[in-house]
Amino acid sequence: MNKIINEDVLKGVDKIDDYSVDLILTDPPYCLGKDYGNDSDKRSSDEYLKWTYKWIDAVLPKLKDSGSLYIFLSWQYSPEIFVYLKKKLRMINEIIWDRRVPSMGGSTRKFSSVHDNIGFFVKNDDYYFDIDSVRIPYDEETKKARTRSIFVGKKWLEIGYNPKDLWSNSRIHAQDPERENHPTQKPLEIIERMVKASCPENGIVFDPFMGTGTTAIACLANDRQYVGFEINKDYYKIIINRIKKYNSCLSLFQQQDNLVRGIRSQPLFLEPK
Ligand SMILES: C[S@@+](CC[C@H](N)C(=O)[O-])C[C@H]1O[C@@H](n2cnc3c(N)ncnc32)[C@H](O)[C@@H]1O
Repeated sequence: MNKIINEDVLKGVDKIDDYSVDLILTDPPYCLGKDYGNDSDKRSSDEYLKWTYKWIDAVLPKLKDSGSLYIFLSWQYSPEIFVYLKKKLRMINEIIWDRRVPSMGGSTRKFSSVHDNIGFFVKNDDYYFDIDSVRIPYDEETKKARTRSIFVGKKWLEIGYNPKDLWSNSRIHAQDPERENHPTQKPLEIIERMVKASCPENGIVFDPFMGTGTTAIACLANDRQYVGFEINKDYYKIIINRIKKYNSCLSLFQQQDNLVRGIRSQPLFLEPK
């Protein structure tokens, strides 16, 4: 595990054992004509749906019985693809990701589209799901406003709220420090939410379309394992560099942490009892 494979997922998928992954987290081409250095997003509608059904059928057997699947889609094709997936899995949520696109005048013949449709599906009723790991803490003001006796001591006020199914997180801007050279890189924050909620620690996340490797970084940062495919060699190199950068930052932090611990354990720095 912890492997990125520079290959067409349809050709390489059998390298992954059946019933071996806890979560399939997938952000496939949307059929919107994006340039991924290949024609993968430039199919006709019919070809796109046929291809989508084919890769879905190829990846689903990899899921454990307690497993889940998240799929990023656009409103143009989510109706057909959700219907297809509902024949195979149980649909739990449609999450709307509001990309917080700034208002710039926009379309004149329709309402501007500023969201992605994310489907959350599970294989069985006893699917793994840890809502407590992704709760959003209440701010101090809200906590203070709930001082009436009916709220005092309420556990939910301390542990934070369920993120709900409308996620408002800014897309990655050109100047964002997280930004890599890829047209549809997803923000780490929302991928981390899916990984933490739907894959147990040390479990395995499978991403068939890695792009810049956001899923791999989310897994490394949260003690999960990853496996995934990316067909484009340049994107594959981006992923490998991103993972190297993450690991070297981590070891730098660990060295500094050890140094601080070492210094603090010297008699001069011992805390008074
Ligand atoms: C929407 S992007 C994924 C972005 C990713 N979630 C991120 O945060 O960077 C889809 C990716 O799928 C890749 N791709 C397209 N067809 C593929 C195939 N058959 N096998 C593997 N990768 C493919 C594209 O090159 C593109 O990088």
